[in-house]
Amino acid sequence: MSKMTVNERPVQFDMDRDTPLLWALRDAANLTGTKYGCGVGDCGACMVLVDGEALRSCLVTIGEAEGRYITTIEGLSRDRSHPVQQALVAEQAIQCGFCTPGITMAAAALLDRSPVPGETEIRETINNLCRCGVYPRLVRAIQRAGRVALRRETISAAPAPGISAEDAARAVPALANPVEDEGLD
Ligand code: FES
Ligand code: FES
Repeated sequence: MSKMTVNERPVQFDMDRDTPLLWALRDAANLTGTKYGCGVGDCGACMVLVDGEALRSCLVTIGEAEGRYITTIEGLSRDRSHPVQQALVAEQAIQCGFCTPGITMAAAALLDRSPVPGETEIRETINNLCRCGVYPRLVRAIQRAGRVALRRETISAAPAPGISAEDAARAVPALANPVEDEGLD
């Protein structure tokens, strides 16, 4: 059994402590925004924030995540309003989108520690694999997101998703409060 905070909610996984955090998030918590790509730490599709650091969740066990603060793409913002999300859409830096959640989390962590990253820094830090090859647009998007975060620029909000945040949360058990929802343990 491992307890941690996921997207600002207390979560308890009744699973083997060696279970990869990726499996727990996707299969037990239904947080399927975090993607399974390679499963061996190469692609970055599974990146989440662990205490603010972008880590590959396929390489982190839930035992190692015990007591830590996990943020997945679902928790980065509830309405796609994070500057990285806005800029990725505005720069059309998404094709199939499979790599995008992991890249978004990596970019958010990068901007937290380096608000005005240069192209080299972005390319070296965001080493996630993207089979669609969005890399040039990605550099522009992350730099633009940095400007938005610093309030030097604004981007119009992305179109609203076709489901309300409340309805989406209802279908995501880990976002429910386990104190109120006894089914989550
Ligand atoms: S699935 Fe974790 S790095 Fe590829
Ligand atoms: S947008 Fe398709 S893998 Fe990156």
